[in-house]
Amino acid sequence: MLIRPTVNGAERAVDVTPATSLLTLLRDELELTGSKNACEQGECGSCTVWLDGELVCSCLVPAVQADGCEVRTVEALADNGDLHPVQEAFLEAGAVQCGFCTPGLVVAAADLLARDPHPSDDAIREALAGNLCRCTGYQKVIDAVRLAEAATA
Ligand code: FES
Ligand code: FES
Repeated sequence: MLIRPTVNGAERAVDVTPATSLLTLLRDELELTGSKNACEQGECGSCTVWLDGELVCSCLVPAVQADGCEVRTVEALADNGDLHPVQEAFLEAGAVQCGFCTPGLVVAAADLLARDPHPSDDAIREALAGNLCRCTGYQKVIDAVRLAEAATA
């Protein structure tokens, strides 16, 4: 069926099957490969995007559910080639190793700071709890959120 989501500000018309996930739509049909497919089971958060302003694991969302909706992906964060402060902070803090988790963590951290510009440590941990990283041990990720907080204060 033909669906018309607005993806990163542009309306798209895409033919999908009922089995197509939003993640597959983004990666395979729209060539937005920033969102990663690490588990396809809703466990890791590497596929996190905004759907009508709410964070979702795009691997769990049927693409048809995005018909008529606003989808924002990690690709929407940089502005004309300038990295978003959260992206800059992840680099500065050394919070990127293999990078597989990074897009989901960056989206979740950007969402947190947009809602709560000065989050507590507990609020950071809670906001990022759905995003698994097997490389960094998470401390550098939390350091990155603090750097981004300072940069956007
Ligand atoms: S790929 Fe979607 S939660 Fe892991
Ligand atoms: S940097 Fe490798 S999984 Fe997070």
